Amino acid sequence: MVLHGRRIVLGVTGGIAAYKAVEVCRRLVDAGAHVVPVMTAGAEHFVGRTTLSALASEPVQTSLWDEASPIPHTRLGQQADLVLVAPATARLLAAYAAGLSTDLLTNTLLATRAPVIVCPAMHTEMWENPAVQDNLATLRRRGVQVVEPEEGRLAGGDSGKGRLAAPERIVAEVERVLGPKDLVGVHVVVSAGGTREPIDAVRVVANRSSGKQGYAIAAEALARGARVTLVTTVELPLPPGAVARPVETAAEMQAALDDLAPTADVVVMAAAVADFRPVHAADGKIKKEMGVPEIVLEPTPDILAGLGAAKRPGQVLVGFAAETSDLIANAESKLRRKNLDLIVANDVSAPGVGFQHDTNAVTIVRAGGDTITVSLTDKRAIARAVLDSVCDVRAALTSFDGTQP
Ligand code: CTP
Repeated sequence: MVLHGRRIVLGVTGGIAAYKAVEVCRRLVDAGAHVVPVMTAGAEHFVGRTTLSALASEPVQTSLWDEASPIPHTRLGQQADLVLVAPATARLLAAYAAGLSTDLLTNTLLATRAPVIVCPAMHTEMWENPAVQDNLATLRRRGVQVVEPEEGRLAGGDSGKGRLAAPERIVAEVERVLGPKDLVGVHVVVSAGGTREPIDAVRVVANRSSGKQGYAIAAEALARGARVTLVTTVELPLPPGAVARPVETAAEMQAALDDLAPTADVVVMAAAVADFRPVHAADGKIKKEMGVPEIVLEPTPDILAGLGAAKRPGQVLVGFAAETSDLIANAESKLRRKNLDLIVANDVSAPGVGFQHDTNAVTIVRAGGDTITVSLTDKRAIARAVLDSVCDVRAALTSFDGTQP
């Protein structure tokens, strides 16, 4: 867990979006972080300190003067692994850019050497004001991470850019900043979901894949610094920063992957591709009065085998093997047949494993025979183990030929 035990000062300033800081706080705590909440005087107009204190890891602090320690203004910043300000008002950005220490939060920001993330939220006119943009440019130049606001409804019925980024985007940025950065500059292509092969205008041959494991791999790769393209058949919330290539059929997925793979450093085929599709999809809807239709199937192309045959030196190719028996033997044979570097084998007949679950249990088999078993856990933890193995393979490729893959 990237955030487990990490000490995060959550600064909340006085804007209407302060209520969303409560959700950010809850998500950080759920992810295992130790959240130290600091509110400005303005924030207290928008959200109660009881609410934030109840959800954070410690009671809210607001003042330079209410602590027993003689040097509280430096303590919070010194001990933090990260300082996050959400929402950050124009006033906070100005004070921070100017180096002013007017309250506990600005003191903490000046006293910390930890990474800082600010999440501005304000009305569009204020956001676009050159003074605000100059302050942000100054902060960015000094290494502060900025989670840009989104377009949307603002307080007072206005709408435009300035709405605080969604809590999941903010938490993803925290994970990215605090997580290992072993995939920076690496383009990872992930396929996710089950393909749907048309029978007629309304019916499809489909499978039970939810796409959750592929999305978890995409989110983890992003957190580790990768550029991620997600070839997907499902409409789950896109991990912040991922580029989506929506597809439906095996043929569309193959076209997207054939397009992306030549420039990808890592390809992870987490999708459940239909092995068979109807030879002909009927135009319009097949009507009942036409009798029971006979659906003739044909094999789909094996996308992964095609990628394996065209694999570039240095490229890492990862497959999945959904099995109900002889897990390792079947997975190893797929690994060899499809020219893969890694295969992630799961016994989909076991409870809590694979399709539609939020959890999974896998054995990661590496070309050459090494295996790593990950027992039942959430799909993000599986993603972490898969990408750890990807990084091991990339490191081995580097040391073998002396070049960066
Ligand atoms: N795969 C693929 N194209 C297909 C079928 C599978 O790219 N037409 C990929 C899957 O995305 C997965 C891997 O191949 O990464 C193994 O898929 P799986 O269904 O377990 O194996 P198959 O090769 O289809 O063999 P079988 O169904 O007989 O077990």
